[in-house]
Amino acid sequence: MDKHYKWDVIVRITHWAVAGLFFANYFVTEEGSEIHEWVGYCIIGSIVIRLVWGIVTRSPARLSAFKPSVTQAVTHLSEVISTRVDASVGHNPAGAVMIWLMWCGLLATAVTGWMAHVELMGYKDGLKEIHEVFANLTFIAVAVHICAVIVMSRWTNRSYLSGMLK
Ligand code: HEM
Ligand code: HEM
Repeated sequence: MDKHYKWDVIVRITHWAVAGLFFANYFVTEEGSEIHEWVGYCIIGSIVIRLVWGIVTRSPARLSAFKPSVTQAVTHLSEVISTRVDASVGHNPAGAVMIWLMWCGLLATAVTGWMAHVELMGYKDGLKEIHEVFANLTFIAVAVHICAVIVMSRWTNRSYLSGMLK
């Protein structure tokens, strides 16, 4: 299987930190506990580091190198289906849409969790429910992301995962 683009150390560390911490908060930590809250803040911190890196770097990790476009994502996917080739360097246009969706979902989940915690404007139960909805929507996006990595690797015979490992 061909190697894919090899991501730099900041992308790799922040990716696996966000992935591990997300699963920890979704499946392991006690909902609303202090550790749950700190795990959420660490997710925000990792994403902020990644976004700042995406502004300063000139590599394919630069944010402007993978702007989300649904039209380009659909065109790219139909090309990959017919040619079985993904010639993108860095994130492909379909990956780009999912990545921005996941970042927005993670930030919205953490911010609404914090809002429920401080009982913003006296609301707590409604905010908890909104927090839960964002956590579940993000979970769906993550599931699609993982399935997409597997399916795209099979279709194109390229190892996307190896570029994110070392
Ligand atoms: C264990 C399961 C996972 C695997 C195998 C995996 C694999 C990957 C791979 C291979 C890429 C690079 C895709 C490319 O080359 O364009 C990637 C990127 C990404 N993944 Fe995952 N991922 C996993 C879990 C997660 C989770 C749980 C999240 C979010 C909570 C996540 C969020 C992201 C994001 C935001 C990127 C973009 C990275 C960046 O540019 O900083 N992934 N993932
Ligand atoms: C992206 C990170 C986070 C994820 C994935 C996440 C996930 C979840 C999930 C799945 C629940 C259970 C919802 C339910 O079934 O009722 C929950 C509850 C909660 N979370 Fe989070 N959360 C995150 C970040 C945060 C943060 C940063 C805070 C606060 C600073 C927070 C505070 C809470 C509170 C107060 C509850 C409600 C607990 C209760 O029912 O008493 N969360 N979270």
